[in-house]
Amino acid sequence: MVRVRVPASTANLGCGYDTFGMALGYYNIVAVEPAAGFSCTVRGEGEGRLPLNERNLTVRAAAAAYEAAGESMPPLAFCCENHIPLSRGMGSSSAAIVGGIYAANVLMGEPLSADELLALATRLEGHPDNVAPALRGGFTVVAQEAGQLFCRRLPVPDGLRGVLAVPGFPVSTKKARAILPRQVELADAVFNLSHAAALALALAQGDLAGFGAMLNDRLHQPYRFQLIPGAADVVEAAIAAGALGCTLSGSGSTMISFSEDDDMLRDNIAAAMREAFQEHGVECRILFLKMDNRGVCLF
Ligand code: HSE
Repeated sequence: MVRVRVPASTANLGCGYDTFGMALGYYNIVAVEPAAGFSCTVRGEGEGRLPLNERNLTVRAAAAAYEAAGESMPPLAFCCENHIPLSRGMGSSSAAIVGGIYAANVLMGEPLSADELLALATRLEGHPDNVAPALRGGFTVVAQEAGQLFCRRLPVPDGLRGVLAVPGFPVSTKKARAILPRQVELADAVFNLSHAAALALALAQGDLAGFGAMLNDRLHQPYRFQLIPGAADVVEAAIAAGALGCTLSGSGSTMISFSEDDDMLRDNIAAAMREAFQEHGVECRILFLKMDNRGVCLF
């Protein structure tokens, strides 16, 4: 049996739309083993809702890995233990894909390289910014050039902590992408470009205050905040409570704040985020998380 652990992830980090990702210390477990016949079970998030046949995303991803390696998938028993909430901007679909392709690759004797796994996962997900940290851990940057992915990663400094306010309602990534404008103002593009470059350099230099200050965005958040009542107030409240920065996690609905100070995170920032959401009638679950620097691994 192959048992793998896959981290959740937060994509975009504000200014790095479809480019930046960071792995979170919060995991799904996928176990896959050869069996007399195909089976699939899901426990936890998505139990009773996710398909248990060949349309299951983890199963589809495993089948795609076999196909990419030129092999046919044997009968396998899949067991998904899901902790990552669905459609909340925490990379649940990327975790499902990465769990499937990674487990399949191990079962086949690892014919696919790390770059091939990233390319395959990106093709299945449609964008690279959640699958890259789910595969490699840490902070990842992915660019596409001449049809090829260029991925670089940095380990996240130990002291960085996140608090996530996870609303009770989902946001469909498809819908959150559909509402974005097709064209942007040059000044907004420059704003994001400069923030993204500065954010990556700040993180590389261990400057967490600089990292937090650069989490702002003008390309997607202003539009997506219309789908998430209270989101703009959550950012303001988190920063007023001492967060290094606060941003939409992926396409939402989760908001994520960062801090180096555990006490401030628990006592002030989390409460400020919860209250700001509550003022707009939004109940949320709070998660305190470390970042993950390992990525998917055998478990
Ligand atoms: N970059 C993607 C988006 C992430 O913002 O639509 C989806 O989680």
